[in-house]
Amino acid sequence: MHHSKDNQAKASANKPSVSDEKIFAIPLKVEDVADCYFYHTMELPGHGVIKGRDWDLRGGVDEYLGKVEFAGQRVLEIGPASGFLTFEMEKRGAEVVSVEVTAEHGWDFVPYPADRLQEVFGARRIVMQQLKNSYWFSHAAHKSRAKVYDGDVYNLPAALGQFDIAVMGSVLLHCRDPLRIVEQCGKMARALIITDMFHPDLEGVPVCRLAPTAQNFLWHTWWNFSTQFFTQFLAVMGFTISEILRHQQYHRGRPYTLFTVVGRR
Ligand SMILES: C[S@@+](CC[C@H](N)C(=O)[O-])C[C@H]1O[C@@H](n2cnc3c(N)ncnc32)[C@H](O)[C@@H]1O
Repeated sequence: MHHSKDNQAKASANKPSVSDEKIFAIPLKVEDVADCYFYHTMELPGHGVIKGRDWDLRGGVDEYLGKVEFAGQRVLEIGPASGFLTFEMEKRGAEVVSVEVTAEHGWDFVPYPADRLQEVFGARRIVMQQLKNSYWFSHAAHKSRAKVYDGDVYNLPAALGQFDIAVMGSVLLHCRDPLRIVEQCGKMARALIITDMFHPDLEGVPVCRLAPTAQNFLWHTWWNFSTQFFTQFLAVMGFTISEILRHQQYHRGRPYTLFTVVGRR
C-alpha cells in the first residue's frame, strides 16, 4: 500500500504522539535537602542514599513495575511523589511524563466533617510542597529529562500526547474516582501498569471496598481493591491481561504485599 507524505502528516496531526511542550512545569530549583519530604528512599548522584519516610522500593523495582520493558518507551506516570519510579524508568530507557496535583486540583480528601479536616490541611500543604521539592531535588541530581504536568488527573489534556505505557503506582487507592483515571490512561496508552496494596480477603470478585470509617479518620485513602476489579475493567476497555504479579515491598521497615496488573491491547 502506498501512503503519500501528505497523508502521513494528516494522520499524525489527528493523533499527536508528541506533546505540546508549553504545558509542562518549569523545574523548581531546590538547593536544600532540608526543604524536601522524601516519600521514597532514593540513591542520588552526589548525595548518596537518602532514607525516605515511606517506601523503600529499591529491592523490588522491576516487580513493582510489572517486569515491563521500558527501553524507548514513552511513559505517562500518575503521581510520582519523590520520583523514585520516574528515574528508575528513565534509567531503563523510558521518556517519562508525570502528572502531579496542584493547589487547585489537589488531593482527593475524604469528606470528613470540615472541622476535623481543617486540622490536617495546614500540615498537608507544607508536606505536599516538600514532596514536590524532593522530586525536583532528585530530578536535578539525576540530570533527568523527565517532565511534569501539574493538573487535573481527571481531565488529562490531549496535548500530553500519546504514550506506550501508563503507570498508576499506589495512587488509585487515594482517588475518589479511580476508574476514570484508568479509563483516561487507557485512551492515551497501549499498555497499563497498575500497582496497589494486595488484600487477600477481596480476591476472587471484581470489587473495591471503602476504606475510611467514622473511626479511622482515613482522610487520604478511599479504596481497597481486588486484582479482579482491575483485570475485569481492563478487559471491558479492550485490554487483554498479560500478567498479575504479587511482590513484597517495604514501608517504614515493614514488608507489605502489593500486586501489579499489566494490561495490553
Ligand atoms: C502514594 S504516592 C505513590 C508514588 C509512586 N507512584 C509510587 O508508586 O511509589 C501517590 C502520588 O500520587 C499523587 N496523587 C494523589 N492524588 C492525586 C490526584 N488526584 N491527582 C494526581 N496525583 C495524585 C500524590 O501527590 C503522590 O505523588
